[in-house]
Amino acid sequence: MIKHSMRVPLRVAGVALLALAASGCEMPAEQKAQTGYRGTGMIDYQNPRIVAAKQAANVVPPAQPPAPAVGPPASQVYQNVQVLGGLSVPQFTRLMLSITAWVSPEQGCNYCHEGNNLASDALYTKVVSRRMIQMTQHINADWQAHVAQTGVTCWTCHRGKPVPSEIWFNHVDPPRARLAGNNARQNKADENAIGMTSLPQDVFQTFLLGDSNIRVTGTESLPYGNRSSIKQAEWTFGLMVHMSEGLGVNCTYCHNSRAFNSWETSNPARVTAWHGIQMARSLNNEYLDPLKPVYPANRLGPSGDAPKLNCATCHQGVYKPMYGVSTLANYAELAAPVPAPAPPAPPPSDAPTEAPADAPASAQATPSSPPAG
Ligand code: HEC
Ligand code: HEC
Ligand code: HEC
Ligand code: HEC
Repeated sequence: MIKHSMRVPLRVAGVALLALAASGCEMPAEQKAQTGYRGTGMIDYQNPRIVAAKQAANVVPPAQPPAPAVGPPASQVYQNVQVLGGLSVPQFTRLMLSITAWVSPEQGCNYCHEGNNLASDALYTKVVSRRMIQMTQHINADWQAHVAQTGVTCWTCHRGKPVPSEIWFNHVDPPRARLAGNNARQNKADENAIGMTSLPQDVFQTFLLGDSNIRVTGTESLPYGNRSSIKQAEWTFGLMVHMSEGLGVNCTYCHNSRAFNSWETSNPARVTAWHGIQMARSLNNEYLDPLKPVYPANRLGPSGDAPKLNCATCHQGVYKPMYGVSTLANYAELAAPVPAPAPPAPPPSDAPTEAPADAPASAQATPSSPPAG
């Protein structure tokens, strides 16, 4: 038994401990940024501790020193150059060094090249990479409605790893799912779930491969068609939770929650996001899914489909990949397809015909900007 005289100090110690524990658990003050008109409650909240970790993970690696456009084009020097033939040999070598640093820094050149035969296409990784170069050029040239001048390089998705950390495969129903009733591909909180919710697990193949309608809000007083179903709304909600998580933002980064469907009261970022949905869908259909025959079986999904991308593949939890700092700025050869090399020059005339070797790169770094206020 504790003597009466002991009880008071014990109680005091207990209160002190509680206070200590409570102060240790206290959330740091969150950072707020107003994203819409005053009074609309459109405020973006960020936890500074999480932001600090994200900032550390979103650093652009130093670019290789520039290489001159001198000498014969790579297509004349090498044997099997199909997309980068218009670069000079120094430019070509610089890009190979950069690609290695972005995609396979631990594995080196041999991740894509078989031994000393650099012209061989024996490794699937080289064949995939050639298509990746074309995809990167296509994103930067044709999807500026989304990526602006900031653009992307291999680093944006790969971050020093051969397989990007955020990829997805088609969802496959577990065997006998039908016998257990219609599970409707939802109500299971597993690692494939969107934001650990019980929302449908096939939102990516529905919206980022297929082109199902995302809009669910009725425009007439009586519900009609599939747009009125709760299941339909859950699919849309699943995609929206992914978009919020993928960008590390709240719904109000894009929407005024008074009316989620209204474009007039939404933020401009929602229009950028709309282009992002179109872009992700197009890249999966035109570039990534068709690579299926190139991959070895162990890289394919449970239904034999190729790995695909979503918003998080580039964004990785940040509203602009790398907080808007351009990795493309120093790599003009990835900003658009490299023009085929000119045929061998005729005997020299007196007028210079080529652009100076030190011409500035076309893309400029976009400064990192906070969410629009
Ligand atoms: C992530 C894949 C990848 C890595 C890593 C890589 N390369 Fe390549 N390399 C390619 C691709 C793709 C091509 C073909 C480009 C084309 O068709 O335009 C190529 C072509 C070449 C060629 C032309 C060979 C010929 O005769 O056709 C040379 C030389 C080369 N690479 C050197 C290197 C060196 C040196 C390294 C390491 C510093 C390296 N590569 C790392 C993907 C890679
Ligand atoms: C928009 C995102 C994105 C960009 C940009 C991108 N990749 Fe990829 N890459 C992917 C995805 C998704 C995969 C599929 C992952 C897998 O292979 O499992 C992939 C796969 C690869 C693979 C196969 C890895 C393996 O072991 O299976 C290589 C090699 C590769 N990319 C090289 C490149 C190169 C080189 C560039 C730049 C020229 C590049 N990628 C740009 C998304 C991207
Ligand atoms: C990064 C921007 C962005 C974020 C964040 C976002 N949305 Fe959306 N949302 C969109 C876009 C773009 C569309 C329209 C897609 C289309 O029309 O194809 C949309 C559509 C919707 C719709 C359908 C509207 C209609 O016309 O029927 C609902 C509902 C919705 N979002 C809810 C949410 C919720 C809830 C969240 C938070 C969990 C959220 N959104 C987060 C961009 C966003
Ligand atoms: C190929 C890489 C890539 C993919 C995939 C991608 N984005 Fe982006 N996104 C970018 C880049 C790069 C920017 C920065 C553009 C700029 O500097 O204005 C950006 C910007 C944005 C912005 C503007 C943010 C702001 O504050 O203005 C939104 C919103 C956005 N993306 C949403 C999405 C959504 C939603 C998806 C998936 C449906 C998606 N993105 C997929 C590369 C990508």
